[in-house]
Amino acid sequence: MEKIKFNKNIVLVGFMGTGKTQVGKALAKDFSLEFIDTDDVIEERLGIKIHEIFKRYGEEYFRDKERAVVKELSELKGSIIATGGGIVINPQNMLDLKRNGVVICLAATPEAILSRLSGEDDRPLLSAPDKLNRIKKLLESRRGFYGQADVTIDTTNMGILEVVKEVKGVLSALI
Ligand code: S3P
Repeated sequence: MEKIKFNKNIVLVGFMGTGKTQVGKALAKDFSLEFIDTDDVIEERLGIKIHEIFKRYGEEYFRDKERAVVKELSELKGSIIATGGGIVINPQNMLDLKRNGVVICLAATPEAILSRLSGEDDRPLLSAPDKLNRIKKLLESRRGFYGQADVTIDTTNMGILEVVKEVKGVLSALI
């Protein structure tokens, strides 16, 4: 176990299915740091699952809750934060996350994302007849936002452990 003292957060952004949560948990374990997932925080606070929040209250309400969570988490130091895939669409979120954190974007091709998410039906924004097309369109509309991250890692052909290794390499160069 590598006990490393970070004075910044390590923030993982990226599209659904790029491995943010799994990679974040592995990093937190290896570095003995606290792991926080913004979707988990929102679900805990509201006492219902994300897809239910979308269904009952709509996306805008969810984005407001997401924004409030980012404001709070951006004050932390030395935490690993995995974010929901759409957190980047509010530019203020990215600015806040960058203030105290290194923001790493995990990317993957639409085809890899589709394959990783097959069998999962808890992503409200992907409930479309042609999922691949939906993924492509959403990715395209978010490209510029994800591009604001400090570093991007293409995880298309990588397993979780390889991504973790890659992130560690990036961090040792940056921190
Ligand atoms: C979303 C991604 C989801 C979740 C919500 C909206 C998005 O998180 O926040 O369904 O807009 O891309 P994951 O990226 O963890 O799946």
